[in-house]
Amino acid sequence: MNEIDEFERTFPPGRILGIETSCDETAAAVLENGRVLQSSVVASQIDLHKQYGGVFPEVASRQHVRTIYAVVEQALQQAHISISDVDAIAVTRGPGLAGSLVVGVNAAKGMALAAGIPLVGVNHLEGHIYSAWVYPAGTIAPPEPQFPLLALLVSGGHSELNLITDHLVYKRLGSTLDDAAGEAFDKVARLLGLPYPGGPSIQKAAETGNPEAFAFPRSRLDGTWNFSFSGLKTAVLRVVRKLEEEGKELPVADLAASFQAAVVDVLISKTLRAAQVFGVKEILLAGGVSANKALRTAFLEQQQFPVHIPAFAYCTDNAAMIAAAGYYRYALGHTDPLDLDVLPTWPLS
Ligand code: KG4
Ligand code: ZN
Repeated sequence: MNEIDEFERTFPPGRILGIETSCDETAAAVLENGRVLQSSVVASQIDLHKQYGGVFPEVASRQHVRTIYAVVEQALQQAHISISDVDAIAVTRGPGLAGSLVVGVNAAKGMALAAGIPLVGVNHLEGHIYSAWVYPAGTIAPPEPQFPLLALLVSGGHSELNLITDHLVYKRLGSTLDDAAGEAFDKVARLLGLPYPGGPSIQKAAETGNPEAFAFPRSRLDGTWNFSFSGLKTAVLRVVRKLEEEGKELPVADLAASFQAAVVDVLISKTLRAAQVFGVKEILLAGGVSANKALRTAFLEQQQFPVHIPAFAYCTDNAAMIAAAGYYRYALGHTDPLDLDVLPTWPLS
């Protein structure tokens, strides 16, 4: 992009209402100018799904139906505005659970139609990336991520490396061949008898464990930018079975710490190598697993690249990130018609 194009592409002020219902969080937020958060409400369904050991899709959709309008109402109230003060409504269109996505998209359509304001469908993964732009009103703005940027996106459903050369321009370099990083945390937690969701449970158990107690495999898949976590999960399973057969008590803290160290090791080494190879300016870490303290510490301690990590509140699913991505879509002219459908398996690129 030459200097004149850059000059012409100024981003106008804009107030976005974001809505997120792709999985088990009903969320709404009001965000200004792509970054400044006025309100963010997240109604978690974790307690409802705990009994099933994971998200029960139909239960999730029906809970979204019950809570969506109250959550939106609260987000508008906390931002001291009404729907007519909003410039556009951004809503997660996918990827996610179809039934859950439909609730958010239909609520957004109803409000867009009633208030006569544009609708913007947002990719959930794009939302996770834009969570690094968000900061609460009245606080100091963290530095804005600079392109070209390498994003490591690690959530419950996805683990991928994306090269981002400009706003909304993504190239997926690689992704997981089997389990997503968050999924591996959830499955290993179950093996260790730890509660759902597994990420925070493993992190907590790992605090008192020795990360070198078990030498779990690191699947590096050299020569590609892909990940694989199923071998690691199977390795944990084998150790657990063996100890159980021997009638020994599970060293849960050591197992959790050693598993977590293997995940962090693979994620950071691959990301740093890709950042070097593709000559990016900065690295961005996003998705639910970016809430993991060991992973954050590893990225913050490396000295090779400036790194952006969303604040804890914006790592796991929320609507502030959807509003942020929605702002850039809206500002660059990408609005959607009211017959917009959901896309449960929508890749980012
Ligand atoms: O982004 P997210 O909230 O939902 C999806 O888009 O999938 O990510 C949820 C995933 C779950 O697998 C959860 O176990 C994981 O993020 N997670 C964590 C932590 N907090 C959430 N994994 C590791 N450590 C954490 N502290
Ligand atoms: Zn997510």
